[in-house]
Amino acid sequence: MTADVPAEIAAGLRRLGLAGPGPVRGEPLTGGVSSDVWRVDLPDGPVCAKRALPRLKVEGDWRAPTERSGWEARWLALAADLLPGAACRPLGYDADGHVLVLEWLDPSVHRVWKERLAAGDVDVPVAAEVGRRLAALHSGAARGPLAGWEPARELFATLRIDPYLTATARAHPRLAPRFEALAEGLATAAITVVHGDVSPKNILLGPDGPVLLDAECASPGDPAFDLAFCANHLLLKAVWRPAGRDRYIEAARALAATYLDGADWEPANGLEVRAARLLPALALARVDGLSPVEYLDEDARRTVRHAAADLVERPPDGFAALTARWLDLTSGEPA
Ligand SMILES: Nc1ncnc2c1ncn2[C@@H]1O[C@H](COP(=O)(O)OP(=O)(O)O)[C@@H](O)[C@H]1O
Ligand SMILES: [Mg+2]
Repeated sequence: MTADVPAEIAAGLRRLGLAGPGPVRGEPLTGGVSSDVWRVDLPDGPVCAKRALPRLKVEGDWRAPTERSGWEARWLALAADLLPGAACRPLGYDADGHVLVLEWLDPSVHRVWKERLAAGDVDVPVAAEVGRRLAALHSGAARGPLAGWEPARELFATLRIDPYLTATARAHPRLAPRFEALAEGLATAAITVVHGDVSPKNILLGPDGPVLLDAECASPGDPAFDLAFCANHLLLKAVWRPAGRDRYIEAARALAATYLDGADWEPANGLEVRAARLLPALALARVDGLSPVEYLDEDARRTVRHAAADLVERPPDGFAALTARWLDLTSGEPA
């Protein structure tokens, strides 16, 4: 069912010269929490239009400056240059209305990775390909100028460091020094441009492989963040769906392995250690921070809390140790 697109999106499309003065029709898309996202039917075919909302559609009053869509546009343009096909290609950005126009990724041939994972379809080569592409993007961005990205740090602090690390430190005062050290590292790192939201819900699996979306948290920073953030989703899913836990863990290991293999901007072992230390903090954040995971019940949250806190306290030195201890600590055997 098509409808008139919101006036702000139509105005943005007109300012970009993509739509004429007449009615602009399309269909709202679901799945996002921070934006109005529409399929817009233009004379030449559909495009996707995304307008950042000042207040996120989540419980609680989580506000985020709409300028984030400008950084998203910039990151997607960078990614399109560095590795065509690895991320959704931007067609235009209207800064006045914060309207980002994207190539249309037809949902009949693009599946949200999170939905595949939730259905128990854990395709290990897909995880490996995500790792390969992410490393190529980090590698390319690490070679380019970072200075122009500096102003994006503030948003990364608001959308990532505060809700994930600072809030979780408050809930776990004993672990607070660990969280503070991790937060400090992320806030000051300038190794590459990170995507900031490499979650299976922001990855579409298309005919040419995984396509990244939703780069609103892009910032200069530590590439270990993106690796840890994405692998964390797989480790949480191993607790959520115990029947497939070995496959989720295998996927996390494959993701890390291809990623680290492609990391040519710094020694891989230091990078791996940083990611393996950060991941448990992010896991604890998904139960006790400001962005709690929606699919775990109280029992599963307790399991994650116990495992993640142990790993924050006694940090693993790599993904082999991290994933082995995660399996052990979440196995349901009495501790
Ligand atoms: N270019 C696109 N083509 C088709 N669908 C898209 C496109 N971009 C986003 N979507 C759909 O909209 C959903 C939300 O997009 P996303 O960029 O993640 O927004 P949010 O910031 O609100 O999470 C995606 O999960 C996907 O289903
Ligand atoms: Mg999203």
